[in-house]
Amino acid sequence: MTARRLDGRELAGRIERDLSDRVSHFHEKSGRRPRLVVVLVGEVAASASYVKSKAAAAERVGIDAEVVRVPASVQTDDLAALVAAIGRDEQGLVDGILVQLPLPDHVDAVAVLDAVPPDKDVDGFHPENAGLLSQGRPRFIPCTAAGVQRMLVDAGIETRGRHAVIVGRSDIVGKPLALLLAGRGPGGDATVSLCHSHTADLAAFTRQADILIAAVGQPRLITADMVKPGATVIDVGINRIEEAGRGRLVGDVDHDPVAAVAGALSPVPGGVGPLTVAMLLENTLQAARDRQAAAA
Ligand code: GUN
Repeated sequence: MTARRLDGRELAGRIERDLSDRVSHFHEKSGRRPRLVVVLVGEVAASASYVKSKAAAAERVGIDAEVVRVPASVQTDDLAALVAAIGRDEQGLVDGILVQLPLPDHVDAVAVLDAVPPDKDVDGFHPENAGLLSQGRPRFIPCTAAGVQRMLVDAGIETRGRHAVIVGRSDIVGKPLALLLAGRGPGGDATVSLCHSHTADLAAFTRQADILIAAVGQPRLITADMVKPGATVIDVGINRIEEAGRGRLVGDVDHDPVAAVAGALSPVPGGVGPLTVAMLLENTLQAARDRQAAAA
């Protein structure tokens, strides 16, 4: 079998075209464009590149994006105060705020993320938004988790009654995705196993998966012998490795051998990554609409 390729770039393009229309409509009704502020701390090349893609995608659909650059030497209190000040937004211009992760080791990321006002938290990382998601009444869903669910629904891959195995329990991807897939309705109603670094016999779980999601950040962790024939495999990893004397991007899935076993497989790059960006834009438009409605 050669797995069907789950093309995130193509789907993100369709989502962006739809969003452009909805953003134009918002602009016509409100007289303003939605606005996203991205806080980028330090000079990590990967983070700078992600932020550039997010800002470029925002501009493509008509969302204003401002990048606020902060030196890596910033202290927690000062960064939290800056984020809070952006959130107070005395000029009334800001709809969404995103603090690009990871933050430098000496910064308390929780304290910084808690300073984002929950109604501008387009990443969905604030405890209020995490709590709403856990209760099945989401406001902003973390973008990568939302992107994985959107990919499954768009591809017509049934989740109801299926066994979804997630490898990786991060607050950004694994945990919210477990809630989404186990939640009620389309793209949900799955039985979910959430595996992590202390899971005994990981392969015994992954081999049972109808839908296998790898989100751990370990290059090619998921090998072909760990995959049930015909399963859907979603690769969330983006790992930069040196191979044959050059740098390249690989996922958490050993792509070519797994493609020979799986029924469907998302590539890296061009899989989940573009959907993360598309979901951020959707969350930003939603934040703008909610803020507009609250002001009316
Ligand atoms: N770093 C890696 N993924 C993400 C994400 O979804 N949001 C933010 N803010 N930073 C990230």
